[in-house]
Amino acid sequence: MRKNIVAGNWKMNNDLAQTETLITELQNQSKTSNAEVMIAPAFTNLWHAFQSLRQDDVEVVAQNMHFAEHGAYTGEVSVSMLKSIGVQTVILGHSERRAYFNETDETLAKKVDTALLNEMRVIFCFGEELADRKSNNHEAVVEGQIKNALFHLEADAFENIVLAYEPVWAIGTGETASPEQAQDMHAFIRKTLADKYGNTVADSVSILYGGSVKPANAKEIFGKPDVDGGLIGGAALNAEDFYAIVNAF
Ligand code: 13P
Repeated sequence: MRKNIVAGNWKMNNDLAQTETLITELQNQSKTSNAEVMIAPAFTNLWHAFQSLRQDDVEVVAQNMHFAEHGAYTGEVSVSMLKSIGVQTVILGHSERRAYFNETDETLAKKVDTALLNEMRVIFCFGEELADRKSNNHEAVVEGQIKNALFHLEADAFENIVLAYEPVWAIGTGETASPEQAQDMHAFIRKTLADKYGNTVADSVSILYGGSVKPANAKEIFGKPDVDGGLIGGAALNAEDFYAIVNAF
């Protein structure tokens, strides 16, 4: 059975002191839902976050990693570095990585391979831009992103993959996909998986929605049958808002 997951992507926010404060505030919240909770602080704060949350029901995940195992890649972080501090899940393919750091389907396929080879779970992000949706190309774009980066994998690899549909036009804009738009796309994604790998795989993969999820809209979005959770940006930086979203399940 697929799981419900709410993951907070902190992006490039919060220094060490702010990370400590937000973690303490998160620890003061109570969880009333069955959702798995994750937070993704910046690299410099992962170790601290991991240590602080050892006893808590919150997984600490990374926002990115390189595809090479090690070597001359100045400024990059490898899978073994992340694993050595206890990180077991990495976000890959966020639209900000694609847009500002030139990540392509090809490099993402390599990152996915490296992660899975090292038993690192992947939250794989993708989503169309506004122009794609306006030209009614959104399904083709999303299908291409999934196929190009993931469809070389064997079916059992999907035990360690979570998908995150994040329409670029809804990220940080305050404009969210309607629950119906999210459901339509999530059902399409699941069908795309089913066509390639069969229903058992398709039904077992969690598909998260990301893009301006807030306490006010989470319940309706999470209420849709193919939406298994959320990848939360701005609202994850406030402990009360984040737990209101976690508890929207
Ligand atoms: P916002 O929730 O701020 O729109 O960001 C979504 C996102 O990019 C999560 O990865």
